[in-house]
Amino acid sequence: MRLENYQMIQGDVLTHRGHSYEEMAQTYQTPLYIFDETSFIDRVEGYREGLKSTKFESEVLYASKALLTKEIARLIAKLDIGQDVVSAGEIYAGMAGGVDAGRMYFHGNNKTNDELVYALQQGVGTIVVDNHQEAGRINEIAGSVASDFKQKVLLRVNPGVEAHTHEYIVTATNDSKFGENIHDPEINNYIESMMAMENLNFVGFHSHIGSQIFDQESFLKASHALIDFAKTVKEDLGMKITELNFGGGFGVYYTEADTPFDVVEYLPKFVKEIEVSIEEAGLPIEKISIEPGRSLVNASGSTLYRVGDLKGTLSGKEYAFVDGGMTDNIRPALYQAEYEGAIVNKITEESTTTYTIAGKACESGDKIIEGIELPQAETGDLLLVNGTGAYNFSMASNYNYIPRPAMVHVTDDAVKLTVKRDTFEDLVNNQL
Ligand SMILES: Cc1ncc(COP(=O)(O)O)c(C=O)c1O
Repeated sequence: MRLENYQMIQGDVLTHRGHSYEEMAQTYQTPLYIFDETSFIDRVEGYREGLKSTKFESEVLYASKALLTKEIARLIAKLDIGQDVVSAGEIYAGMAGGVDAGRMYFHGNNKTNDELVYALQQGVGTIVVDNHQEAGRINEIAGSVASDFKQKVLLRVNPGVEAHTHEYIVTATNDSKFGENIHDPEINNYIESMMAMENLNFVGFHSHIGSQIFDQESFLKASHALIDFAKTVKEDLGMKITELNFGGGFGVYYTEADTPFDVVEYLPKFVKEIEVSIEEAGLPIEKISIEPGRSLVNASGSTLYRVGDLKGTLSGKEYAFVDGGMTDNIRPALYQAEYEGAIVNKITEESTTTYTIAGKACESGDKIIEGIELPQAETGDLLLVNGTGAYNFSMASNYNYIPRPAMVHVTDDAVKLTVKRDTFEDLVNNQL
């Protein structure tokens, strides 16, 4: 397993900033989500500085679908970045941690009327309109707040740029469910009708081509396509376009097959290039934003499991069962995601055996890692899986009535509990 810079081998065990994994396991039990707060803060600050422009305001919007807890929201508020939300629940959770609703961008296809009413009541700053039908609903709801109220909106457009990633996390193909396609013959009609809506302050466009993108060119290509599109809209319809949101999707390291680029290094180059093309397009842009989720949190997160039974099969497969699985990390079952792991108490021992790390849920597909080389595993070992900061906690379930794990935040000085483990009572709490 590739170690993160906060993980070190001390004696013959692996530690997290010198904190013992065994102590964390004994104090908080396993499975346990472990989040390195310091590396997260460093990354957020790097992105925020990297996106700065001398030409226009810029804002990093944390795509909180990747990982949102009250403590993460407190950090977002403190670090002075915005929040991308996709449901009323995410608005609520962000505000519960102190994020100003005015700094939120509300995304999602098929936002319900109730969610839109809630967003307007809370003062959500920007709504990213998914489609022309939704624009009409937002206009109507905004009008019912006050006849002269104007809700700031962007329109999500799909530039038809392919991102080379898993089909479930590509969002900008021509048959994507997200946004309006820029090649749709009706697109100008949709935009014109939004421009005429009395209760919308329609300031610009958004695009997001997918997630886990390793190719800087795809991101740039989509950004240029968005600027070119905005230029055409300005010329054809006379729309004053003051804001562009280029989405998220920067790739991260899970295994050696992944080749992410350094986003902090990349952003200043990106901003320079965007500044030039916006100027060439003659657009009166006042603000740009990006929406990274995974790349801000993933490397800061890991999951600690206790190894239970070991089982060899007739075909020769060696299973090591862990006390969690698809309920805390659905990604391998959902889209064949791959991870690296290590036995923290045998970190200096040689790997001798190929294991399949399987969870305890009643699904054959409940596997965390297939074919990992490890030292001889024994019941009671602690298995750490890295790169679980994004889309693990947020996609966790109570399948089989398995309680969702606790989460701790770690700094040099402390290990702090930020999410309690579900109790059995929590599991039936909403049931009458
Ligand atoms: C609209 C939008 N913005 C941002 C993101 C965040 O993507 P990522 O976590 O890959 O950065 C997503 C995720 O799919 C998204 O749909």
